[in-house]
Amino acid sequence: MSERHADEEAGGFELVTLAGGVRSLRARDNGQVFHPVVGPVAEATAVHVAGGQLVERVAALRAQPFVIWDVGLGAAANALTAIEALLAAGGRLRGRRVELFSFDRSCEPLRFARQHAEELGYPRGREAWLDALLAARAPVEIGADALTLRWVFVQTNFAAMAPRGWPAPHAIFFDPYSPAVNPEMWTLALFERLRGEMGETPCVLTTYSRSTAVRVGFLLAGFFVGIGAATGEKEETTVASNERALLAQPLDRRWLETTVRHSTNAAPLRNAVFSRRPIGDADFTRLRRHPQFYSEANSSP
Ligand SMILES: C[S@@+](CC[C@H](N)C(=O)[O-])C[C@H]1O[C@@H](n2cnc3c(N)ncnc32)[C@H](O)[C@@H]1O
Repeated sequence: MSERHADEEAGGFELVTLAGGVRSLRARDNGQVFHPVVGPVAEATAVHVAGGQLVERVAALRAQPFVIWDVGLGAAANALTAIEALLAAGGRLRGRRVELFSFDRSCEPLRFARQHAEELGYPRGREAWLDALLAARAPVEIGADALTLRWVFVQTNFAAMAPRGWPAPHAIFFDPYSPAVNPEMWTLALFERLRGEMGETPCVLTTYSRSTAVRVGFLLAGFFVGIGAATGEKEETTVASNERALLAQPLDRRWLETTVRHSTNAAPLRNAVFSRRPIGDADFTRLRRHPQFYSEANSSP
């Protein structure tokens, strides 16, 4: 799907041109293309901004600030696309404060995005923000007429991170590499930790994955789980929340009894080793009792 630009390679990443002519980057060690097919801005907009109803939720929040966790900052496409959408909302967000915490174990993709701002397009004009995150590791303060936004880069291994007292998130952009190459970021234990850290704060987690095993993992960790926006590459993605009312399309009991029951890849990852397995009986029983399905089950004859 993508064409390689050998002359533009540097370090661990290389530029690629996607089918529509949009530029993105590929990690050379695991071969993964960031936001494949539709490209960085289109995917970030569909999955995290529109899919998470970000602007509407920031506008609606009375208690301030609205906290976003950007898990897998990478080349900052999700973060920058979200910031641009919030800034573009203008007066609708008057008086709102947003805190954006971007987590990544590496700063290399961010550095690559800074170096290739022109070719990638989306970082163009925002180089000073990326320089500040890279050089000073100091928060970037972005003030618009209506909105104030503070952007913090936390360089850490998120999978091993002990709770550090970051403010509980209202939105999580969950964008590690795929479970096959980055399994430590998709374990049941990590999902349980995320669920615990959001507590009672109403939160929407958006991710590109539509894997049955990933959805089952979120459910077993205590989330409600729904179908997320299409991206052009995939007809659906995934939204998880601690509040059922925040899901536009919750997965239903039919999905449980057909897809989960029969999938060869429905067991959650219980350790950081990727495997595809059908769901076990104990997990399936737990899912049937999950409040997302339980009330429907009760109403059945
Ligand atoms: C697909 S890229 C993210 C793309 C990014 N969201 C963007 O908009 O450009 C996945 C990112 O997850 C990061 N990552 C993978 N495992 C991680 C871990 N254990 N802790 C923190 N970051 C991790 C990688 O370093 C990589 O930058």
